[in-house]
Amino acid sequence: MISLKGVSKSYNQQTKVVDDLNLEINDGELVVLVGESGCGKTTTMKMINRLIEPTSGDIFIDGKNIKSLNKNELRRNIGYVIQNIGLLPHQTIEKNIATVPLLCKKDKGEVKARVHELLDLIELPYDIYASRYPRELSGGQQQRIGVARALANNPDIILMDEPFSALDPITREQLQNELLKLQVELHKTIVFVTHDIDEALKLGDRIAVMADGNILQYDTPENILKHPVNDYVEAFVGTDRLWKTPDMLKAKEVMNKKIIKIGADRPILHAIELMKEHDTNILIVVENASSKSSKMLGILGINRLKGVSNPATKVRDIMKVDVIKIPQDMSLVEVLNIRKENGIQYSPVMDVAGNIIGIITNTSIINVLTDIVPDKEEY
Ligand SMILES: Nc1ncnc2c1ncn2[C@@H]1O[C@H](COP(=O)(O)OP(=O)(O)OP(=O)(O)O)[C@@H](O)[C@H]1O
Ligand SMILES: [Mg+2]
Repeated sequence: MISLKGVSKSYNQQTKVVDDLNLEINDGELVVLVGESGCGKTTTMKMINRLIEPTSGDIFIDGKNIKSLNKNELRRNIGYVIQNIGLLPHQTIEKNIATVPLLCKKDKGEVKARVHELLDLIELPYDIYASRYPRELSGGQQQRIGVARALANNPDIILMDEPFSALDPITREQLQNELLKLQVELHKTIVFVTHDIDEALKLGDRIAVMADGNILQYDTPENILKHPVNDYVEAFVGTDRLWKTPDMLKAKEVMNKKIIKIGADRPILHAIELMKEHDTNILIVVENASSKSSKMLGILGINRLKGVSNPATKVRDIMKVDVIKIPQDMSLVEVLNIRKENGIQYSPVMDVAGNIIGIITNTSIINVLTDIVPDKEEY
């Protein structure tokens, strides 16, 4: 775990560029520092590997104050990737990756094997790329080498300062995906700096939104999107962001919580009355409507009543039984896919215990989506 406790930095006794920062980063977590240019992201990051010393406050790694550690030793356990890669131009890719392990006097054969393994990992085959020079690689490939180099000594922590910002959008997205894939495998503790909120939302387990040397909000992408702490964060994230990332919306957030139950043996006349009374087109059919624990047997949508002439027909006889239940945490995107593939109009949502807690309908989805984007136009 990395903990920053009351960390401040000022240059020449002037205003603090990092101001009394507190931040905890758990092992295996990918934390993104995001904020406008000059807000103190790089300064914060460089204090973690002591490229910059704080003016006050302390930083701990696994409970040890990093002030008490030898700088070189500290950095051996911290990989560092920067925007302009910083590969050594006159060294081969192999040498570039191997620099730190060789400095640490690791066995040459082992280091070679490690380079091989890392090149495989970033999908640049050893036989083709190891002997090349950085200028013989594309920008995206060089950036991958930067990541491989940061991993070379198998550090627990990796600091990445805008590593992908110089790349075109497609390569950038590719490398973001690769990083996510790598992280599933390697489970490093990663601090990632960017000024791009989209990148932050995509990569971060948690995001620290910074402004003027302060952390305004430190939270999951979902909470930053849904519950920004103030106007600044809201504006920075963009109020229409949820439109662009609908996978952040969960089934339970787009469902209608109104559930009207009806007993399976009731006549459809009663179903019609209930629909009118509760202003709904859909009923949940259970064995016994007055029992709280009664399990769902099926659903009865208003369409099923069409053409049924005998009012004494039982609900059980016309209800829909093969109902797909949606888990409450399924993303809206998945829900929409399931609805489309199966031509479903009504999707009951269940909690972890399997209880029905709401129903997703086209109307419930539209209601939520129109809530997200406030009307700006006056009519
Ligand atoms: N050596 C220095 N002397 C004086 N001021 C500095 C020094 N280094 C950085 N600063 C100031 O500290 C502030 C924070 O800089 P920092 O590099 O941490 O910003 P950043 O958030 O990484 O910005 P960017 O997104 O542009 O990289 C800036 O206002 C910068 O001018
Ligand atoms: Mg910076």
